[in-house]
Amino acid sequence: GKVAVLMGGDSAEREVSLMSGSGVLQALRSRGVDAHAFDPSERELIELKRDGYARCFIALHGRHGEDGSLQGALELLHIPYTGSGVMASAIAMDKVMTKRLWQAEGLATPAWARLAPDEVDAAHLQTVVDTLGLPLIVKPPREGSSIGVTKVQGPWQMPEAVALAARYDADVLCEAFIDGAELTCPVLGEGRDAVALPVIRIVPPAAGYDYQNKYFTDEVQYLCPAGLDPALEAEVQRLTLAAYRSLGCRGWGRADLMLRDGDGQPLLLEMNTSPGMTGHSLVPMSARAAGMDYETLCLHILATARL
Ligand code: DAL
Ligand code: MG
Repeated sequence: GKVAVLMGGDSAEREVSLMSGSGVLQALRSRGVDAHAFDPSERELIELKRDGYARCFIALHGRHGEDGSLQGALELLHIPYTGSGVMASAIAMDKVMTKRLWQAEGLATPAWARLAPDEVDAAHLQTVVDTLGLPLIVKPPREGSSIGVTKVQGPWQMPEAVALAARYDADVLCEAFIDGAELTCPVLGEGRDAVALPVIRIVPPAAGYDYQNKYFTDEVQYLCPAGLDPALEAEVQRLTLAAYRSLGCRGWGRADLMLRDGDGQPLLLEMNTSPGMTGHSLVPMSARAAGMDYETLCLHILATARL
């Protein structure tokens, strides 16, 4: 039957989603799938039903696409969709809830503090700096693509960093900065059958890894194979799979991690349940290293669609 590639949407990552979606759409069509673009910010979801779509490929990122709300709507419409269900999507979208869950399961994640809207006074900010140390990372808990993220080097930067993050979310996540390599590890499948793909090492320019160079420049270097010792790569994959399963993810996903200098401990930053599928994106890069081309990857993800 007909497949709707859901793309665009109304989140801050709309632009990224349009790039992901057009890649997926083209790939599915090239393999003979009757696929059509559908932008939920332009049309009512009920039209999916009226127009006879059999399945949805979710290529939306962020709010109203990756956060469980869309998944809930598709459940109610009885239209199978790719990726994680309502609960896993909702938890993974929220980095604070994710970290609580991972810590409860004994999975390593950097130390953190949450600032509620009424806790952004100087005394609270100083407590966070004292607790987490410097530098520290300030981010909106429910955003992606580095939007609203600041690396705070000195206490004087805190008010501005918190105000920026608070533009995107009611509360703010502060996280200890981990000195080390930035890694990402995609997962395909579900439960015991989930498999981790090759790890990618991200080597950003000195200025850091941000929204602009993530998608619009070639300043970021991506290493896949990541050049890790095989035992360490296996450990990163094990941690990623444990993180994925603990959240109850299915279909596909991608964990972002830091590999701490010194002791070599991998630490989980977040789980993306609808990762980027753009020309710069990491799941396609890792899949390619594992021998799976972009088109096959898209078909594989589509085949996981269910209710
Ligand atoms: N949030 C972006 C799309 C990603 O994780 O790839
Ligand atoms: Mg993310």
